[in-house]
Amino acid sequence: MNKHYDILIVGAGHAGAQAAIALRQQKFTGTIGLMGNEKYAPYERPPLSKEYLAGDKPFERIMLRPESFWGERDIELLTGHRVAKVDPMGQQVTLTSDEEVGFGKLIWATGGSPRMLGCPGNQARNIHAVRSRADVDKIMAALPTTENVIVVGGGYIGLEAAAVLTKLNKKVTIVETLDRVLSRVAGETLSRFYENEHRAQGVTIELEAMVESFETNDEGMATAAKLTDGRMLAGDMFIIGIGIIPETGPLVAAGAAGGNGVDVDQHCRTSLENVYAIGDCALHSNPFAGGALIRVESVQNANDQAKVAALDIMGEECEYNAVPWFWSNQYDLKLQTVGISAGFDDCVVRGDPENRQFSVVYFKDDKVIALDCVNSTKDYVQGRKAVVEGLELDRKELANPEIPIKEVGLV
Ligand code: NAI
Repeated sequence: MNKHYDILIVGAGHAGAQAAIALRQQKFTGTIGLMGNEKYAPYERPPLSKEYLAGDKPFERIMLRPESFWGERDIELLTGHRVAKVDPMGQQVTLTSDEEVGFGKLIWATGGSPRMLGCPGNQARNIHAVRSRADVDKIMAALPTTENVIVVGGGYIGLEAAAVLTKLNKKVTIVETLDRVLSRVAGETLSRFYENEHRAQGVTIELEAMVESFETNDEGMATAAKLTDGRMLAGDMFIIGIGIIPETGPLVAAGAAGGNGVDVDQHCRTSLENVYAIGDCALHSNPFAGGALIRVESVQNANDQAKVAALDIMGEECEYNAVPWFWSNQYDLKLQTVGISAGFDDCVVRGDPENRQFSVVYFKDDKVIALDCVNSTKDYVQGRKAVVEGLELDRKELANPEIPIKEVGLV
C-alpha cells in the first residue's frame, strides 16, 4: 500500500474541507488526507454561478482557505485523484490510477456530478455544466464570441447564470420542463416573482418545454436546441442546470446502504463500519423535513454534517439537527431561505412582491416550517426562531410587514 491516513476524506469540496478543519479544531492529532479529483485546493462553489462567472472575483478570492493553510495544519491535500473502489473490510481505497490508500476512518464527501441531457448532440463542445471551476472557466473563455445563450433548467444554477449573463449583455433563454421555475425548492409566489424579474431584464423563459436534441455543425458545436414541440432555439452557448447526481458509486458498490445518496444516521455514519458520508451525497432523516429521508444540497448542510462527523470521530456526543438555510443572488435581489418548504399546506406573503422586498412564510399543520425572504434580511433573521421552534404564529399579524416577526403573537 502506498499511503495510509488515520482519516481519509474523499471529496475536497465544502464538506470534505470542513471535516478536515473541524477535526483539527477538535485537536485531532492523527494523520489526515484530503483527496479531491480536481487539481485545485478547496474552493467555494456558490460564487461559480455568481461573482466568479461575472468576473467580479478571481479564483484566489473564492478559495476556502489560503493555499498554505492545509500544510500548516498538517492536512495532506491529495489533488487530482479519483477513488474507483472502496474496500471497507481491508480499510483501503483504490484510485483510478490503481494506487491504494489505506484509512483508519473514511469520510465520503464526494457531492454530486451535474446531470446532463442524454439526447442526440449532447457531446457538443459548447454545452456546459456549472459545477466546477473548470466548467466555468470554459464558459468564460467562450463569452467574447457568445451572443445567444440557451439555459436548460430553471433552478438556482439556471437562474443565477441567466442573471449574470444578462448583465454581460448576452441574450438568454431559459428552458424549464415544469410549469414554473424553482419548483423543487419554493412555492409559486416566489417562482412567479423570479420569472417576472428575469423577463423584465430581457430573459425569455420557456416553461413546460423540453429539449429533444441539439443540432450540431461540422466543428462539433451545437447551433440550436430542438424542443419536443418542434421549435428550434438557436444559440451559440448552452448551459445545463438540471440538478446533480450524487457521487456514491464506489461506496454503494462496497455494500453501503443507499439509493439516491448514501444512507447515514444522525451521526453521519453509513452502514459500513468506520465509514461516514456528509454533504450533498448523504441521505439522512432531516428533522426540518418531518424526519423524511432527504439529501440537502447546500453549504450549510455540508459544513454542519462535517462538524457532526468530526465530533463523532472524537467520541463527542453530537447529532445532526441543524436548521437548513440557503441564499441566492440574482440581479440586485438577495434571496435568503431558512427551513424546508416542501410539503407546506399554507403560506403568508409579507410585503408586496411589486416592491421587490417581501417574504413568504410557509406553514404545515399550523406551524411555521420555512421562510423565503427577498431583500428582507430582517425577516430572515427573525424568522429563524419561528422555524426552529415550529411556532404557530398569527397569520393576520404576520401578513403585516410593519409588525416585526419577533413581535408577531402566537395563536
Ligand atoms: P435544481 O435541481 O435546483 O434545478 C433543476 C431545474 O431543472 C428544476 O427546475 C427542474 O425542473 C429543471 N429540469 C430538470 N430536468 C430538466 C430538463 N430535462 N429540461 C429542462 N429543465 C429541467 O438543480 P440546479 O439548478 O442544477 O442546481 C444544482 C445544485 O446546485 C443544487 O443543489 C442547487 O441548490 C445548487 N446551487 C446552489 C446555489 C446557491 O448556493 N445559491 C446556486 C446554484 C446552485
